Amino acid sequence: MTVNLSSPIEKIKNASDFIEEFKNNGNTLYVKREDLLPFCFGGNKVRLGTYYLEDAKKKGCGAMVIHGSGTSNMCRVLAALCSREQFPCHILTNAEDDGTYIQTCNNVLFSNCGFPVTYCDQYDEEEKLQRIRADFEAKGLKVYYIYDDDSIPAAVQSYVDAYKEITGQAGDTPFDYIFITLGTGITFSGLLRGQEDYVAAQKEKGKDIKVPRIVGVTISRTTERAGEFVKKYSTLYRKENPAVDSNVVADFEIYGGGRLGGYGVFDDDVLAGCRTFYGNTGIGLDPIYSGKSFYAMKKYIRENNITEKKILFVQTGSAPLFLNYAEKIFK
Ligand SMILES: Cc1ncc(COP(=O)(O)O)c(C=O)c1O
Repeated sequence: MTVNLSSPIEKIKNASDFIEEFKNNGNTLYVKREDLLPFCFGGNKVRLGTYYLEDAKKKGCGAMVIHGSGTSNMCRVLAALCSREQFPCHILTNAEDDGTYIQTCNNVLFSNCGFPVTYCDQYDEEEKLQRIRADFEAKGLKVYYIYDDDSIPAAVQSYVDAYKEITGQAGDTPFDYIFITLGTGITFSGLLRGQEDYVAAQKEKGKDIKVPRIVGVTISRTTERAGEFVKKYSTLYRKENPAVDSNVVADFEIYGGGRLGGYGVFDDDVLAGCRTFYGNTGIGLDPIYSGKSFYAMKKYIRENNITEKKILFVQTGSAPLFLNYAEKIFK
């Protein structure tokens, strides 16, 4: 791997001082600091992107097509990786729902890696993708598109491996819950399949272990739609990596309590959560991804009356977006 892919888990010792859901109820909060992964401002996309690029090279591809919105962390990280590795690349980026193109720190960063950028909307997205593919193929380059069915397993694998890392860091008492942001569902699918593989391996050794419930907090799609994608990604992964024991099924849930109307929509409570978390921990949560799922995690704890639990929140990164929205967060 071209990047050191491991991140620390930090106990938030003062959580009970400033988060209502961790006051006087025995809940303890830990944060998996994916935002500290050491490349391009960190985040889950560093794992996904690194695995994608390795996979592209392994498959003999000569060009990468990246695709995402103007706020996309994937576009930022993968464009920077391709730039560092001098791997030809083209970025396809979508307009917002209202047809405008927004300017974010991510957008500025990925647009300035020296690669062509094509803007699209929902109507011409497919046509433009085909044109980009055809242009590379005309140059004799085999194309790697990150959302092709045969690219997905590599990305899922990155979080199958991250699950192992988490279990190794949990200490003597396993986590009761893992909360993680669910966008496309690739990262979440990796944790689920990772849990199954881990439990199956322990079972083979005669060990019956307790596992955390993995809660995917959907921040854009409805829970039903998110579930369909998780199923699809899991199937694609399992086709290449069959389950060791098909009786072992991950303990998971997709939670829609943080959706707030869809991608990019947040409210004053999300911003206030980002503000107090930063003020008390120095960890930046952005209101599009991690801030929204942190808000949802608190809601989930209240709704389900969770007490006496060891809870891991996966901070999936997005430092540029934290800075982007800093004025709103600290208004
Ligand atoms: C910061 C951050 N967290 C979480 C996610 C969700 O990851 P996935 O799309 O794999 O569900 C994303 C995806 O865009 C992201 O950028």
